Amino acid sequence: MEWKEDFELGLAPMDGTHREFVAMLSELESCPDGEFVGLLERLAAHTVAHFDQESAWMHASGFPPIRCHMGEHERVLKVISEVLARVRSGDLELGRRLVAELPHWFEHHAATMDCALAAYIRSTGYPAQAAPVPQGQSAAAAR
Ligand SMILES: [Fe+2]
Ligand SMILES: [Fe+2]
Repeated sequence: MEWKEDFELGLAPMDGTHREFVAMLSELESCPDGEFVGLLERLAAHTVAHFDQESAWMHASGFPPIRCHMGEHERVLKVISEVLARVRSGDLELGRRLVAELPHWFEHHAATMDCALAAYIRSTGYPAQAAPVPQGQSAAAAR
C-alpha cells in the first residue's frame, strides 16, 4: 500500500498516525512469513492507539457522529484481534487476506469518518482536554 495525497486530511497528528498505519500495512504486504505475526501484532497495537487518539478528540470536542465513528473503529478492532488470534495459531493465510482488505477499509474510512472529524477539529480547534499527540509519538507508544 502506498501513501496517496488524497489521504492528507490537513490535521498533522492525524495524518502522521495515518502515514504510520499505511507504512506498517505496506511492510506487512511484502514481509516474509516469519515476520508476519510480529508485524501484525505491532499493527494491532498501533491501531488501538490510533483509535484511542481519535476517540479522545471526539469525546472532548463533542463531535456529533461520535457513535457511528467509534462503532466502526470497534468493528475493525474486533476483526483485527480475531484474525491475530487465528494467525497466532498458524492461519497465516487469513492474516494475508486481512492485510489485502485493510487498504480498502482505510481508504473509505479516511475519506468519510476521519475526513469529517478532521474538518470538525479544524473548524472548532483542538479540545484542550485532548491535545494532539506530537507527530511520530503515537506509534512509538504502541511499539
Ligand atoms: Fe484514523
Ligand atoms: Fe477513524
